[in-house]
Amino acid sequence: MKIAELPFVKEFVRLCSIGDAQGFHERNGGNLSYHMRPTEAKAVRGILGAKKPGPWTDVDPKGDVAVPGLGGEWFLVTGSGKFFRNVAYDTEASVAICELDKEGAHYRVRWGLRDGGRPTSEFSSHLMNLEVKDRLSGGRVRVIYHAHPANLIAMTYVVPLTDRDFTRALWNTMTECPVIFPEGVGVVKWMVPGGREVAVATSKLMETYNNVVWAHHGLFCAADTFDNAMGQMETIEKAAKIVMLVLSSGRKPLTGISSDGFLAIGRMYGGDIPERFL
Ligand code: 13P
Ligand code: ZN
Repeated sequence: MKIAELPFVKEFVRLCSIGDAQGFHERNGGNLSYHMRPTEAKAVRGILGAKKPGPWTDVDPKGDVAVPGLGGEWFLVTGSGKFFRNVAYDTEASVAICELDKEGAHYRVRWGLRDGGRPTSEFSSHLMNLEVKDRLSGGRVRVIYHAHPANLIAMTYVVPLTDRDFTRALWNTMTECPVIFPEGVGVVKWMVPGGREVAVATSKLMETYNNVVWAHHGLFCAADTFDNAMGQMETIEKAAKIVMLVLSSGRKPLTGISSDGFLAIGRMYGGDIPERFL
């Protein structure tokens, strides 16, 4: 069996193609990571045999990021500067399977990036988010997906950049929203992308949320499956589109979903609607 034929690789590639078709990934915009299960790492090791790994490299080019909670784990991740459009077309050149050292401070490429390169410039955010989610979910949450959906980015120019304002605006667009993200969304104010600072800010919010907005940039989603990661991205972008359509209509909304309505949805679907958003 070839590595590109392994089920988790196929699902990873499929998400990239769907994201591209959705228009979420201009040029090299966005990135995706998957925390591989021990059985999946074992299968890859078996296929690789005696193939020499790449050199150990700092997780963050500045050398100031470590995820000890994920030491020794394996990840499938998109390459920096690689286009989502090309992941299905030439998987081995566009993505990498990386192994972390015991301290979680260095990685080495075991497969992929055939023509050179390194994992996404947001590798620090991906790993720090995965570390938080691994701890909180007992290993259930394994996918981190970052994209640049247009309406959500537009929203970050006209809605106050707070968790409460974004959560309420998005929940209010479609009844399904508080079902899909009952915990709300977090918002990171504009920051320079790549590296530790934005990774620390995002992973702190991932303690509370599964979806974190980056002002004037995009969205990070954390999920247990590729389907759910894409489902969250699509739902939030569609909700943002409705926010922008309503704002663009120039009409003052006549109605919306009440706080009691959100609470009733929480009761019906078992989601805990946080008091601070009501
Ligand atoms: P990479 O090509 O390094 O993944 O960067 C794309 C991006 O979206 C940065 O936030
Ligand atoms: Zn980005």
